[in-house]
Amino acid sequence: TVLVVDFGAQYAQLIARRVRECQVYSEIVPSTMPVAEMLAKRPKAIILSGGPASVYEPGAPAAPEGLFEAGVPVFGICYGFQVMAQTLGGVVERTDVAEYGRTDLAVVESGSLLDGLPAAQKVWMSHGTYASQAPEGFTVTATTDVTPIAAFENPEAGFYGVQFHPEVLHTEHGQTIMRRFLELAGVRSNWTMVNIAEESIEAIRRQVGDRRAICGLSGGVDSAVAAALVQRAIGDKLTCVYVDHGLMRKGESEQVEKDFVASTGVDLRVVDAEERFLTALAGVTDPEEKRKIIGREFIRVFEAAAREISTEGEVEFLVQGTLYPDVVESGGGTGTANIKSHHNVGGLPDDLQFGLIEPLRALFKDEVRALGEQLGLPAEIVWRQPFPGPGLGIRIIGEVTRDRLDLLRDADAIAREELTRAGLDRDVWQFPVVLLADVRSVGVQGDGRTYGHPVVLRPVSSEDAMTADWSRLPYELLERISTRITNEVREVNRVVLDITSKPPGTIEWE
Ligand code: XMP
Repeated sequence: TVLVVDFGAQYAQLIARRVRECQVYSEIVPSTMPVAEMLAKRPKAIILSGGPASVYEPGAPAAPEGLFEAGVPVFGICYGFQVMAQTLGGVVERTDVAEYGRTDLAVVESGSLLDGLPAAQKVWMSHGTYASQAPEGFTVTATTDVTPIAAFENPEAGFYGVQFHPEVLHTEHGQTIMRRFLELAGVRSNWTMVNIAEESIEAIRRQVGDRRAICGLSGGVDSAVAAALVQRAIGDKLTCVYVDHGLMRKGESEQVEKDFVASTGVDLRVVDAEERFLTALAGVTDPEEKRKIIGREFIRVFEAAAREISTEGEVEFLVQGTLYPDVVESGGGTGTANIKSHHNVGGLPDDLQFGLIEPLRALFKDEVRALGEQLGLPAEIVWRQPFPGPGLGIRIIGEVTRDRLDLLRDADAIAREELTRAGLDRDVWQFPVVLLADVRSVGVQGDGRTYGHPVVLRPVSSEDAMTADWSRLPYELLERISTRITNEVREVNRVVLDITSKPPGTIEWE
């Protein structure tokens, strides 16, 4: 294990991901965790993350006490680098000129961390404070125009630090530097998908024994991979429930019913609840109200199914596809994950009295996909874009009706089909298509006036859905999608592109 000490902001997650990309298991811990507790996790190395504070401000988070006496190699990054400098007797000062973004780094002394890397390289900086004097025993290995100490090290002690951010992709040799530190720390790379799958299946067997579990499948990759893992572990003691609320995209329910069952052999109960959901949603236009209704109905339907299954033998566990970012965001690490109201559909009610099985609690989304491939799930499921639990219900702006759902399903299917045909599926995180059902605009088609609805294309790129940028799709692709939608989908006479990042926009429109 490599521990990433979190000094705030989003840096720690990115560092943990990069460590894992080196096939080394990493875990994020808060900077307030006592060192004894950290050492109990038997870390082979510790990385101090960046953070928003300045080390000399009152109340700025300090290095965990005794960290540098623990005999574990430490790598300080940005704020973590300054904490290291200050704690070990160096000097940290405010700079007149802050450095943000891409910066030229000059390697002045090859040392061990930057050994063999080009003398001039681009790195990503973000700081208004710098270390002006290294602690005793440290060699300064790199500088920039503004920063006299951009990297330092004390290899005998196992301490390394960089002012820049090796974890961001804009740092040219960032991943090499990360890997180099792990090598210098003597950490072995053995965290592979095969091992993860085996260990996780073993752990589920120990947890569940010969008792029974249920899993709510949403059609998404998380619940599918979680279910597949549990199925491997306990076989037919697992029953999956798929609630078809009628708000799914074209072909989606069939995919769950056929492909998933075919590739896993899982015992699947499909509940057709379209009528029920559409009745409950009739006349509703407010987004929050829609979400609440969908969440509530979902729970009712799921509970009824769970009760029915329980009559065949008591069910004691509920499988959930909780991911590591959810665990970290809800204050991290131990205890039951605090399920965001967001995740109320497809994930499940807390007041159902079940033990939880959460086999993906330590994984990031891309790791879940790799695991899904390892388990032999079809690409259509593994590479499916994230899809919100409330489904197309929150992609129709206005009242949700069967007719409007059909329109949106057709438009959405065209957009997805063309994206796939262009080979861009994996470059786009998510591609919502939104129907502005309460808006009409005038158009002309075949010499006649039309008065139809616009649809919005909302392709975004993202690493974790916390932030997102609009995808720069090729014009030819956008043109094909626009032409096909306006030609093939009745009542849609306009296609518009959403070019808002998140923040300030969210990914979904409701
Ligand atoms: P927003 O719209 O908040 O969405 O930027 C962030 C990510 O979450 C998905 N999303 C949901 N997922 N239940 C879910 O399981 C929900 O109620 C829900 N609402 C949004 C959204 O698709 C995006 O990936």
